[in-house]
Amino acid sequence: MAKTAQLRIGDQTIELPMLEGTEGERALDISRLRAETGYITMDPGYANTGSCQSSICFINGEQGILRYRGYDIEDLASRSSFLEVSFLLIYGTLPTPSQLDYFTHSIRIHTMLHEDFKALFSSLPKDAHPMAACSAAVGALATFYPDSLDPRNSRQVEISVHRMIAKLPTIAAYAYKHSFGQPFMFPRNSLEYVANFLHLMFANPCEEYEPDPVVVKAIDLLLILHADHEQNCSTSTVRLVGSSMVNLFAAISAGINALWGPRHGGANQEVIEMLAAIRDEGMTARQFVERAKSKDDTSRLMGFGHRVYKNHDPRATIIKKACDDVLAKLGVHSKLLEIAKDLEEIALKDDYFVERKLYPNVDFYSGVIYNAIGTPANMFTALFAIGRLPGWIAQWVEMHGDPDMKIGRPRQVYVGENARPFVPLDQR
Ligand code: ACO
Repeated sequence: MAKTAQLRIGDQTIELPMLEGTEGERALDISRLRAETGYITMDPGYANTGSCQSSICFINGEQGILRYRGYDIEDLASRSSFLEVSFLLIYGTLPTPSQLDYFTHSIRIHTMLHEDFKALFSSLPKDAHPMAACSAAVGALATFYPDSLDPRNSRQVEISVHRMIAKLPTIAAYAYKHSFGQPFMFPRNSLEYVANFLHLMFANPCEEYEPDPVVVKAIDLLLILHADHEQNCSTSTVRLVGSSMVNLFAAISAGINALWGPRHGGANQEVIEMLAAIRDEGMTARQFVERAKSKDDTSRLMGFGHRVYKNHDPRATIIKKACDDVLAKLGVHSKLLEIAKDLEEIALKDDYFVERKLYPNVDFYSGVIYNAIGTPANMFTALFAIGRLPGWIAQWVEMHGDPDMKIGRPRQVYVGENARPFVPLDQR
């Protein structure tokens, strides 16, 4: 028999079913609470609310563990590739060689955008933020592919998933090219996924461009590390928007917008801007840390802190090491990396950060790598979006297969005016 917890409200006692996940996470099922008692629960920021049962990603924030489908992030980072991890997230198992060939081939042949997309990009201002451009263009995919919009049709889902993964790098690179007036490059389907993205970003019709294998490997690693992170802000957005039964492109477009915010994926751009400001204003790392602590200053130490990780973020540990390796291989000396390391060292010993359990997160060092390979700061979050895409898709697919799926619709406690008579305009 299922275990229950008892909740007493006044004279009434009700039984709340208890759930336990495969890693021992426990939850109380309150879905009948309002029907049985008239009460709802309040949980601003959903810090204690489970919105679904999921078998995609496991995080233990106290111990700094991250796994995709049961595989440790450290193993995937060192032994896998981004497309292999994408397959794992979406289909639930590591691909066999023939499954990976099929998947890679299907992604490869869908990289081009309809020529009319050029008009969409050219209608945007030159300084349009790439995240706004990406969200608009991904939303527009629904207008170009009306044949694959039904989330209940498995063939349509498969084709829209492959199109989405194939086209987002092209979209992101076109947003970048548009910002400084360079012609859009056609994808080179002879290249691997990441190498093709670098070609789309950095080649031009007048110059040969050969992607550097060190850079390709570094970006592939960063994409793997960003690929899923259970019910974060943008993933919950994709699920919530998707729960209305809207098509995949619309749900992903919404997720891109959620990711853009500086408290979420937009932090990677903010980190590099923070590091550059410290360098350019001649501030010391300690001075900036004091600012980030001050209640009179709105600055935060960007790239620090996480809702779930209260020990360390395993992604940040891997990225910090990769940062040293990649910069050494490329022969880049980065003042920004020095400042980042100083900030980390000071913050990790400071009572303010220790008491609040604030550690470097995935965004703290990733920007230093992007910066060292010539990626402009406003493209950092677009790279995060390319990485997070398979996670968003996997969560969207899982939600549609869940027999308990319902449209997402939280409640509220109303604290506004009680009913009052309407006052005509001339009497106000
Ligand atoms: N610098 C300074 N103080 C911080 C920071 C920070 N980076 N992060 C949290 N704090 C402080 C808050 O001021 C608050 O202090 P108080 O208790 O004295 O009021 C306390 O720590 C708790 O912070 P909350 O914002 O309530 O924590 P929450 O879990 O809601 O937020 C978040 C987590 C948004 C990541 C936060 O730590 C933050 O803003 N970090 C900087 C932005 C960032 O790096 N975002 C990327 C996160 S990873 C990702 O989304 C991909």
